[in-house]
Parts: sequence; C-alpha cells; structure tokens
Amino acid sequence: MSRSPMVVRTVPALRRAIEALRARKATTALVPTMGALHDGHVSLVRLAKRRAQKVIVSIFVNPTQFAPTEDFGSYPRTWKSDVAKLAAEKVDLIWNPDVKVMYPDGFASRIVPEGPAIAGLEDRFRPHFFGGVATVVGKLFTQCRPDVAIFGEKDFQQLRVVTQMARDLDLGVRVIGSRTVRERDGLAMSSRNVYLSAEERQTATTLYRAMKESAKRLKAGDELVAAMAVGREMIESAGFVLDYFEARHAETLAPVASVKDGPVRILVAAKLGKTRLIDNIGV
Ligand code: PAF
Repeated sequence: MSRSPMVVRTVPALRRAIEALRARKATTALVPTMGALHDGHVSLVRLAKRRAQKVIVSIFVNPTQFAPTEDFGSYPRTWKSDVAKLAAEKVDLIWNPDVKVMYPDGFASRIVPEGPAIAGLEDRFRPHFFGGVATVVGKLFTQCRPDVAIFGEKDFQQLRVVTQMARDLDLGVRVIGSRTVRERDGLAMSSRNVYLSAEERQTATTLYRAMKESAKRLKAGDELVAAMAVGREMIESAGFVLDYFEARHAETLAPVASVKDGPVRILVAAKLGKTRLIDNIGV
C-alpha cells in the first residue's frame, strides 16, 4: 500500500510544508482541484510529476465560483477515495483548506479577470464563475508558490483565464494545459458525469461526436457557419439544451470567420436534463 500524502489545512502549516518541499531547491508543481478525482485528474498529477520534483494537489470546493442556483451543496465530495488515488500517485502534499481558511471573516478582495474571461462563452451563462476561479487560483498560487501549475484543457476558457492572470500579475508560475481524458466512447471525464442517468450517459457522447463532425467538415474546407450548423443540429436533436457551440481562436478565444483565422477550437456547453456539460476540441 502507498503511504498517504501529507495533508495540511491551515496557512501556517502549508507554509512550513512548502518550505520543507522546496529544500535543496526542489521544483514544485501544483494541481488545483475541487476533489471528486477521476482519471482526468490522475493524468494532471502524472504530468505534474514529469514537470517538477514535488507535487502539491489542492482539494477545495470553491464556493465563490458557484452561483446560488448551482450545485455547490451537492457537488460530489469523495475525500477517502481522493486521498487513496493521490497516495497511489505518490503525491507529496495535499492542501485542503476549509472555506473559513480560504475566505476568513471580513475577506474583501477579488480578482476580476477580463480578456479571455469575457469572451462570451462560459461567462455568458455563468457570470460569477471566472471571478471566483481567478480569485481562488490567485490565492492558491500565492499560498503554494509553485513553479508550474497544471490545468485540464477540458475547461479550456478557464485554462486561458488562469494563463493570462499568471502572466498579467507576474505570479511567477508557468501554467501548463493537459489534454482532456475521455471515456472509451468519447465523453470527456468530469466530476459532474455522476449526475447523468444511464440514458443521459449514452446521449452525452453526442457532444464529442458533434464536435468531431464539425471539425471534420471545417478541415475539409466547408464554410464555417454550415460546418458548425451540422454539429449544433446533432446536439439539439439528441435532446440537449444548448448554451453555445462555437468555433473560436484557440489562443484569444475571439470569434473566427474561417479556419484560416485559426488555430481554431470548437467549444460546447449544453444541458442534458439537470446536468450541464462542457467540452472542446482543436480543429
Ligand atoms: O477546475 C476546477 O476544478 C476549478 O475551477 C479550480 C481550478 C480547482 C478552481 O477552483
């Protein structure tokens, strides 16, 4: 059996643990998570291990990135299995602050990201989201002072937002994106997939198939509006309520008129019953 990683829950204890990890100039990588770890997170940890000598994983379900109508209360919390997975990967440290440690009484500062955070994708449907993410990730970076931080490409706009923030605020952290891990049938791994009924789980694969179909048509030279309309129609006729299905510039997230304006990324968000899924692929 693997030894459990050290778990710290207060800022002074974190500081001491980080000092110890960085002894003899060891490099550190941070993998920020909200727990409910699956193989996608494990792949982030494995990339972290390749990029730095010591790996810190934060587990914190961040209330400020959820709207009051969203699933903060019911978000899956699977502490024991999370620790077992991180132990198996030989993670060095788990940072697991309580809400009161992250946001003590009187907390009154927020990061308000712009640029990719106001690209008109997730921000159009979850206006609170990137302010909450940027604020907590800014705190995680200053608390843990990692050399590199690993984020999944599945949350593509989030990856762009934290990359921009780290650069703009000179946080001294190199943000690295990690490829999306998919189930065998193409569904992107997500902690929220557990919300899907058996029938919805089958339908959910449509998202990936629709993105691939539109990407194939774009690569074949089809006009962008027509190529995207095909994927959009596949998603809506499968029973999803679509928030967006768009082709954007992969770096700036600005709208593109053709693949020549690329590199292009197709990004989707849609609801199936009560579950909202997001995904994206490169063209
Ligand atoms: O992607 C997530 O799990 C969260 O948004 C993050 C980056 C851990 C911030 O709470």
